[in-house]
Amino acid sequence: MPALVRPDMAYMASYVDALHEGYSRDSLRPETPQMIAQIAREPAWFIRMVRDPPTTIVLPDASLGERVPETEFWWIEGDAFLGSVSVRHRLNDILESWGGHIGYAVRPAARGQGHATAMLAGMLDHVRENLPLERVTLTVNLNNPASARVIEKNGGVFRDEIPHPWIEGDVGRRYWIDLR
Ligand SMILES: CC(C)(COP(=O)(O)OP(=O)(O)OC[C@H]1O[C@@H](n2cnc3c(N)ncnc32)[C@H](O)[C@@H]1OP(=O)(O)O)[C@@H](O)C(=O)NCCC(=O)NCCS
Repeated sequence: MPALVRPDMAYMASYVDALHEGYSRDSLRPETPQMIAQIAREPAWFIRMVRDPPTTIVLPDASLGERVPETEFWWIEGDAFLGSVSVRHRLNDILESWGGHIGYAVRPAARGQGHATAMLAGMLDHVRENLPLERVTLTVNLNNPASARVIEKNGGVFRDEIPHPWIEGDVGRRYWIDLR
């Protein structure tokens, strides 16, 4: 049975395999070969960055934005990396309308086996125990029914449809999950 663990050097070989397989840390921006090569070359730097992220982020429109505090876990079986899930401790205006509290991704070879559903359930337990949040917001593209299903299977309640801030004409769905 896989478990949620903090990112660690022990899983970096499998993590880099996942990147080559098509796993991406950001659903808006696929990994570049240059970034994958840098992560493979400097795994210790990468682990430090994931465990203690910078406080700014380059937004999809290339402007510099605030990166809110975030905690990432990896879904690990043995020493194999299967996916990741992260929680933002609070939202700013941009994340309130798009992005939400929790994001996740499963490596392509491990999809369709219930991993995202289990990762999100584990993350909700973590949030209940560690963060003072009454409810979390999650957003999903209309063209991502698998992710919408993962949210609904974890008690997600549809809130509204919202225009995508970065992709013109695209629409997303916003959900709540009550934690208390
Ligand atoms: C979305 C994603 C996380 C799903 O991961 P996963 O481990 O395959 O998800 P699960 O196996 O837990 O569950 C997927 C559910 O969606 C369903 N599903 C899959 N494709 C579907 C589709 N095209 N239409 C409707 N439902 C679909 C599955 O049947 C399953 O539901 P079920 O258990 O009731 O049968 C994965 O595809 C991924 O990493 N995508 C890229 C990153 C991403 O989109 N992240 C989410 C951003 S909001």
